[in-house]
Amino acid sequence: MNHFDYRDGVLHAEDVPLARIAEEVGTPVYVYSTATLERHYRVFADAFAAHGLEATVCYAVKANSNLAVIRTLAQRGAGADVVSEGELRRALAAGVAPEKIVFSGVGKTAAEMAFAIETGIAQINVESLAELELLSQVSESLGAETRIAIRINPDVDAKTHAKISTGKKENKFGIDLVDARDAFAKAAALPGIDPVSIAVHIGSQLTELEPYRAAFERVAELTRTLRADGIAIAHLDLGGGLGIPYGAEEPPPPDAYAAMVAETVGPLGCPIMLEPGRMIVGNAGVLLTRTLFVKPGREKTFLIVDAAMNDLIRPALYDGHHAIRPVREAASDAPSVAYDVVGPVCETGDTFAVARPLPEMRAGDLAVFASAGAYGAVMASTYNSRPLVPEVLVKGERYAVVRPRQSYQDLLGLDRMADWLTEADGPISLEEASPDAESEPPRRAAGADG
Ligand code: LLP
Repeated sequence: MNHFDYRDGVLHAEDVPLARIAEEVGTPVYVYSTATLERHYRVFADAFAAHGLEATVCYAVKANSNLAVIRTLAQRGAGADVVSEGELRRALAAGVAPEKIVFSGVGKTAAEMAFAIETGIAQINVESLAELELLSQVSESLGAETRIAIRINPDVDAKTHAKISTGKKENKFGIDLVDARDAFAKAAALPGIDPVSIAVHIGSQLTELEPYRAAFERVAELTRTLRADGIAIAHLDLGGGLGIPYGAEEPPPPDAYAAMVAETVGPLGCPIMLEPGRMIVGNAGVLLTRTLFVKPGREKTFLIVDAAMNDLIRPALYDGHHAIRPVREAASDAPSVAYDVVGPVCETGDTFAVARPLPEMRAGDLAVFASAGAYGAVMASTYNSRPLVPEVLVKGERYAVVRPRQSYQDLLGLDRMADWLTEADGPISLEEASPDAESEPPRRAAGADG
């Protein structure tokens, strides 16, 4: 359930009409709903409590790392799963308690490890023997005893898109299950390392429980083996990955997921950590866009909108489906047109949807790409020198711009001239070269929606 609904014929985010945000902030713009974020967090966390599990929900910051989003969840009690020093700094800045932060990822640098240890986070998830050795050196040099999980690769097929499947033995993630016992023995013997947990994460956008069940059964069996070996596994980190309905999918509800967790690892009697990302934020956000042109072709009709693949890359990268909803509600008997919905970027891959039936759209009309709260803004780039789009957080009747639109000054100002290029003619003034660069990019004139 989310809080994007039509009221009086206009799509709202909670109590705020999206046409108003388009008018006041401009498009494209990401819009997030606080009520949806809080609801998803609560439903997920409560499901584990209801099944008698002691669970810490470490929100996977990579899904949406806006500080206001992280803080909204932190205020409800969420921890954080981070994969870089940048994400760790975001989690801390947003007020997540260090003892609720886990650090995952296959390629941490020594500097990132040292920063994490000095910050006193809950646990570092180790994914290779080489990483284990480096972490031991860094930890010992800081006089620390670092709590770690070893992430295992259980070799199960998550039955999701190949680019976001992580638990097969050919994937780069984790230590093969067959080598896990030796890895834990090694970890127990290394200075500066305290192996306390097993971590697993088999992929993202999972729509079935069975792959999870297979993975968690393997984790439970390994826990028993390690405990018999004298390694005190005190808790488990079961990762994230629970899917959301983008279209026709029917992913398992959190309650069924929690029941399966209780069945598989509940008897071990240890607290668990979970790392949901998409499940919390995916349907809590939309990308609001305005139609630039309707371009009838000989074979197709293109709906050219002002958002592009650089703003939301999921359709181009994973063939991701995002529902498209016009901001002005169409009459139930309105005829539909099959549009290829495309952005302005100079690639055919800049296609959001092919032959998508929508009510007839005109230049200026607003629409949203739904379910864009996860892996949307965080994966945006400035390709084609398109400034990063703003992010807005709604709460009831209020909204706040939680990231302003990038200005042209900021966009151009990241670059530097090589000194030999300015020797002959002197330095280039950004102001002269790009007048009004400090101002925000011009907004489109308002269309029929506002
Ligand atoms: N934990 C670990 C170790 C992860 O690698 C991930 C996601 C998560 C948790 C959170 O997974 P979630 O609950 O959000 O599925 N950009 C892709 C998804 C990449 C997921 C990467 N890892 C997409 O847009 O579909």
